[in-house]
Amino acid sequence: MRILFFGDVVAEPGLKALAQELPGLRQEFRPDFVVVNGENLDITLPEAGKAGMHPDTLKALLALGVDAVTGGNHSFDPPWAEQVLGHARVLRPLNHSRHAPGKGSLLLRKGGKELLVVNLAGRSALPQAGDPIEAFENLLSQWPRVPILVDYHSESVFEKLGFAYLFDGKAVAVVGTHTHVATQDARILPKGTAYVSDVGMVGNDGGYQGYDPEFLVEALRKRIPPRGFVLRSAEGPARVSFVFLEVEEGRARSLLHASYLLATPPVSQERPVE
Ligand SMILES: [Fe+2]
Ligand SMILES: [Fe+2]
Repeated sequence: MRILFFGDVVAEPGLKALAQELPGLRQEFRPDFVVVNGENLDITLPEAGKAGMHPDTLKALLALGVDAVTGGNHSFDPPWAEQVLGHARVLRPLNHSRHAPGKGSLLLRKGGKELLVVNLAGRSALPQAGDPIEAFENLLSQWPRVPILVDYHSESVFEKLGFAYLFDGKAVAVVGTHTHVATQDARILPKGTAYVSDVGMVGNDGGYQGYDPEFLVEALRKRIPPRGFVLRSAEGPARVSFVFLEVEEGRARSLLHASYLLATPPVSQERPVE
């Protein structure tokens, strides 16, 4: 089984970069499943600095042939979060309250292959989250034999790496998201779990996690939420970050982690009306 996983896609430039790169990467890697972290897919409330996904942008993302869209702390940002989280292919952290909308795991089936995608969050990213270890143990008892890919959404390498060693051999991959910064520590652990602390983002590289720094710097300067500023995307060039994973007999056999800048801005995917 072959899996492509992309880290946090940030706003319109991120979606455009993914749309530009995905066809070529599909040809090169022939993935059975494509999974994307979409917690920053839209700037949903620009004056409040909120992310998450808009239903129309989610549709555009899925139209690229993405099989599952994971989330994180921003999953709950937009006013229409319930609608988006109700979509069959959308996940939010499993260890968030069971009363929250949406789901934390999704079984993908294609061509006789199965992959259970699981989304977890560390409390460093989502303070109100429950215990990720307990949530994952409960899930494992329900799915003992299906290959599992975990998107572990957290600020902390300590937390993500510790989790990966704890469940080495139980998940085929534990891939980190949330910091938007690609780490150089991709490896396959002794019992076959592919790991990277953070995949990194798909979005414009010239700013603060894919955003223009003005909004965030102003908030830090004033020690209050920024007023009079609007969150917008950073300047380019765009960065594309992903892991490619080959799985055989329930363990990772090969792992590639890539994070690169696009030399030219991605072209618009909208076709001119003829
Ligand atoms: Fe993010
Ligand atoms: Fe996040």
